[in-house]
Amino acid sequence: MTAVATVDWFEGPREELRALFALADDSATAVDGYRHLGRVLVARDGTGIIGHLQLIVSDDLVEAEVRSVAVREDRQGAGVGRMLMERAIAVSRQENRARLLVATAAADVHVLRFYQLLGFRLLHVKRDVFTRDRGYPEIDIDGIPLRDQVWLALDFGNTDLPAARREAMQLRVARHTDDLDALVRFYRDGVGLAEIGRFSGHAGYDGVFLEVPGTGAHLELTAGGDRGAPVPHPESLLVLYVGNQDSVDAIAARLGTPPVVAANPYWATHGVTVEDPDGFRVVLVPESWQT
Ligand SMILES: CC(C)(COP(=O)(O)OP(=O)(O)OC[C@H]1O[C@@H](n2cnc3c(N)ncnc32)[C@H](O)[C@@H]1OP(=O)(O)O)[C@@H](O)C(=O)NCCC(=O)NCCS
Repeated sequence: MTAVATVDWFEGPREELRALFALADDSATAVDGYRHLGRVLVARDGTGIIGHLQLIVSDDLVEAEVRSVAVREDRQGAGVGRMLMERAIAVSRQENRARLLVATAAADVHVLRFYQLLGFRLLHVKRDVFTRDRGYPEIDIDGIPLRDQVWLALDFGNTDLPAARREAMQLRVARHTDDLDALVRFYRDGVGLAEIGRFSGHAGYDGVFLEVPGTGAHLELTAGGDRGAPVPHPESLLVLYVGNQDSVDAIAARLGTPPVVAANPYWATHGVTVEDPDGFRVVLVPESWQT
């Protein structure tokens, strides 16, 4: 049977989905512990919400898990569960997760069939998960005691784990100098980066942290040690997308240094190149970052 339903993210209070969460998990205690987590997809037809699926991403962002999925009893067997799962699979694949996980009762061979039809493979078994002290009733499903939990996984063949984790990264570019004060004046007072911290005498090093507004990225300037400052190179650039020409002009005016000719002609036509007090180049681009 073909489902006539739409699937979208749920924005309302999770309380509204209490009955569906309860359909997927017999322990109200367990549901209370996770119902608020992650994102929830809902399937709707003319009668309202007929199914839900809760998608939770692991802390390291590598894996996603379908923690809860259910279809209203009068609408089961019509392809709605499959629609919800296929959307969760598509979202997780698009978000570069390495795999999608799901856990269910070993006793429920029907649900095991449902997941395996979607391509999930068995991963491992956790024994005695569905116990009375965790709020589960002592019941049988088709004569099999509700007791053990089976984990299944759908692998996306994404072995590019750094890509899967990319949202977890933050950027800090560190640069060494022999004239910390001059460089801080250039980037903080001229370019307009915000000073967010500094240190002195850390194992012979001084440093200043500057934040690139709106990005969360840092430029860390350090001085000290015994290796001296690096040698500038005309192709070694810090490119700042400042959004518009007025901002480029304002920064150039604050810096008061004449622009230099970019080595790479691309930058000559796409921005203004200036040199910092150490001779390293900064390109100011009057556009927004295009993703
Ligand atoms: C499991 C559940 C979400 C499936 O949703 P559904 O809308 O009924 O499933 P679909 O109609 O999309 O079925 C998809 C496929 O799984 C199979 N399937 C679904 N439920 C099945 C069942 N109880 N027994 C055997 N096969 C089943 C269907 O035959 C279908 O196969 P096909 O594509 O070859 O025809 C739904 O039955 C449900 O809400 N169950 C109660 C809650 C629950 O157990 N949640 C999972 C907890 S881990």
